[in-house]
Amino acid sequence: MTTFENERQPSSDPFEELAPIYDAVFPAVVPKYAEAHDVLLSMLPFGSGDSVHILELGCGTGELTRKLVEHFSAARISALDVSPSMLREAVRKLRPFEERVDLLQRDLTDPAWHEGFEDVDAVVAAYTLDYLPLDVHERLVSQVFDLLVPGGRFVSCEFIEPEDPRVGDVFRNLEYQLISRQVAQKRVSEENIKILVGLAESGPKHHVVRISSLLEWLRKAGFDRVDTPWRFFNFVIASGRKP
Ligand SMILES: C[S@@+](CC[C@H](N)C(=O)[O-])C[C@H]1O[C@@H](n2cnc3c(N)ncnc32)[C@H](O)[C@@H]1O
Repeated sequence: MTTFENERQPSSDPFEELAPIYDAVFPAVVPKYAEAHDVLLSMLPFGSGDSVHILELGCGTGELTRKLVEHFSAARISALDVSPSMLREAVRKLRPFEERVDLLQRDLTDPAWHEGFEDVDAVVAAYTLDYLPLDVHERLVSQVFDLLVPGGRFVSCEFIEPEDPRVGDVFRNLEYQLISRQVAQKRVSEENIKILVGLAESGPKHHVVRISSLLEWLRKAGFDRVDTPWRFFNFVIASGRKP
């Protein structure tokens, strides 16, 4: 497994406090977290034994990476993340698959984030691209198109800005109920929730895009079969194919 220790380190790592508790908190408080990963994976039109190269953007602690590498038993996965602390968790989790997984520290806001990659069969991202400023996000969609082989797929699960504010209100209410229930049932600790809330308030900003703009960026980049196979309130999976 390629490690990231020798690569350029960010001056500070905003995910440092979250990384060790991420797996205990995020899946418990993000509605339909695992379901979104499963749908994302199911959009990849490969056989489970195909020797494909999948690039994952913002792999975090490697939850989706593990699903991908387990499901696609001959695939090579290159998983990128800006946070050394998140990558450290991913290294631990993915050690059994180290021959087929490369974990690399890359900042997606750097225009050269994709250096060294070409002809990839699919690019995936979960809960990550909404951390990018909108112009960077749009540029990235085009860069992803260029990286893919013809027939290659881009699938991303993102937090979006609903067209109708009522959708956002209902979602926040559901989210609040879910978190309260998980705390009451001791599935997640109040301390960990405080860390999560602290990060949401003073950590990296979310730059949420409207679905209509996201789909327009995909079409403008050249993708066809642009669609949203899954949506739950403020979360959407968007996908496209390089013709
Ligand atoms: C909410 S986590 C999602 C992790 C994982 N994809 C999942 O499904 O659980 C967001 C991840 O995006 C990464 N990230 C945020 N900004 C980034 C950037 N500019 N470049 C690369 N990764 C970034 C964070 O370090 C973090 O690991």
